[in-house]
Amino acid sequence: MKLIECQGSHNIYKVMKEVVDVSEKEIVANSVDAAIEKHVPQYEIDGDKIVVSVNHVMEEDHYIEWIMIEYNDSDMTKYFKSGDKAEVEAKYVAGMKLYAYCNKHGLWMKEV
Ligand SMILES: [Fe+2]
Repeated sequence: MKLIECQGSHNIYKVMKEVVDVSEKEIVANSVDAAIEKHVPQYEIDGDKIVVSVNHVMEEDHYIEWIMIEYNDSDMTKYFKSGDKAEVEAKYVAGMKLYAYCNKHGLWMKEV
């Protein structure tokens, strides 16, 4: 998965099909100098289910905006607001990638 950030508006886009090199604006996971344990998604596997969470504050000005789960052939995103619990349950598939986006500290990823 490739996510890019517009340098002017700071809008974030998921690249659905890449026809030109957009790497200069790519958001690189786990690249911000911040507490790894508070940003990298954690998970518990129970049979064919996985519960993904982020051990992060969910304050009005600092919170996890979304968790995205990437499979080989699809992805899903759950959005949060301050006060929510940053947690989502999904189907477990080996090799899946878990992303979390903090509004202050950017993109974090863990491969399961
Ligand atoms: Fe953060």
